[in-house]
Amino acid sequence: MAFFRELGDRVVGAPSILSADFAHLADEVYRAEQGGAKLVHFDAMDNHFVPNLTVGPMVAASLVRAVNLPIDAHLMVENPDNLIQPFIEAGVTSISVQPEVVRHLHRVLVMIQDGGCEAGVALNPTTPPEAIEWALPYLDYVLVMSVDPGFGGQSFIPEMADKVRRVREMYGLPVEVDGGISPETAPIMVEAGAQVLVAGSAVYKGDPTTEMRRIIESFHKAR
Ligand code: DX5
Ligand code: ZN
Repeated sequence: MAFFRELGDRVVGAPSILSADFAHLADEVYRAEQGGAKLVHFDAMDNHFVPNLTVGPMVAASLVRAVNLPIDAHLMVENPDNLIQPFIEAGVTSISVQPEVVRHLHRVLVMIQDGGCEAGVALNPTTPPEAIEWALPYLDYVLVMSVDPGFGGQSFIPEMADKVRRVREMYGLPVEVDGGISPETAPIMVEAGAQVLVAGSAVYKGDPTTEMRRIIESFHKAR
């Protein structure tokens, strides 16, 4: 299964279900899909790496069965090793991990790719792109965090546009951005080279179909 490797030069929107109504997850995804979403961003948090707790592979497996869009798992957990196989078996398409807390990054990335998923790293705002230089052969995409991981609804960190530019120049891999993405900030990130725009609160603060469409239109105008 490939999503990032088949992106080409497309730019797409992805709802982060962190801000959705968890009692109606499949419907919340469907409504964002109606607004043009091409990927679902699934945030797993462990109350250790980040001070928040969300959902894991069991919920991912249910969601995979219930929706048509591919699912991208973002693991904000201290010890992702034990969760890679369960997420692969859940049927997600891609998995990103936080290099700040992964002790053996090579092994984890290889595990993801060997399981047939695409592998990504999610860089905290102050983690330099250079930190992943030697992981490049085992990466399919880079996720640039434009807020500190842990919560939806935080303010966009503007310097992260320069980081997207740097990651694109250094590695040429597709860049996903996550945090504070809205119709105001999405065009800035697309202009910098981002291709997957994750938005949580901006999509689910209102009607997800309308809000997703608004974000996608904002960056299409910017291209
Ligand atoms: C934050 C998560 C994001 C979150 C973004 O740690 O990784 O995916 O849902 O939320 P917004 O779009 O509200 O900043
Ligand atoms: Zn995320």
